[in-house]
Amino acid sequence: MAPQINPSILSADFARLADEAKAVAGADWLHVDVMDNHFVPNLTLGVPVVESLARATDTPLDCHLMIEAPDRWAPQYVEAGAGSVTFHVEAAAAPVRLAREIRAKGARASMALRPATPIEPYEDLLPELDMLLIMTVEPGFGGQAFLDIMLPKIRRTRELISKHGLELWLQVDGGVSASTIERCADAGADVFVAGSAVYGAEDPAEAVRALRNRAAA
Ligand code: DX5
Ligand code: ZN
Repeated sequence: MAPQINPSILSADFARLADEAKAVAGADWLHVDVMDNHFVPNLTLGVPVVESLARATDTPLDCHLMIEAPDRWAPQYVEAGAGSVTFHVEAAAAPVRLAREIRAKGARASMALRPATPIEPYEDLLPELDMLLIMTVEPGFGGQAFLDIMLPKIRRTRELISKHGLELWLQVDGGVSASTIERCADAGADVFVAGSAVYGAEDPAEAVRALRNRAAA
């Protein structure tokens, strides 16, 4: 699959979300970080904002839920208009049931792993998912430094995906920039979340194009 770039609106101006979404209209997805101040020590936005954002942009929404009780909340994000919903395996009570429910409601189902969570125990779950997210920073904040020690995990995950002949997308999130994206792509990632590298740039649309070119190089 051609590399996909998903700008994270966590680094955007929250008072101008519709305009900030339009500023990256060439992006594949818009990454929306939902934080509840329990699963991570930060608080962002919830279902009503996702609902409004879905109406305000044609770019599909990739909702990353960094929240407790995703089993209860994730389906509401599909109803709010998200095209892809990612829950954290560390927080989910029943990940397989949840992935099936997200798919049944019509969105892509995705599961995230914190940096310290290994992939191996979840190998059998991969066929239930449309995407796997490997965090390359501790979730909670934008602008953190990329964790190089996650590269072997990305590589191993790509091997497992190939071994099972799956169409699963492999997303990385955290510290992805012009200087780290090639390493992620080499290791097997094909969906790249970038917050500060896109919204911190003078021209966010150009930053998306530049990241996509580097990932494809
Ligand atoms: C962090 C969020 C990321 C964040 C990435 O917990 O999940 O999506 O916005 O920001 P950067 O790209 O600046 O590391
Ligand atoms: Zn995220």
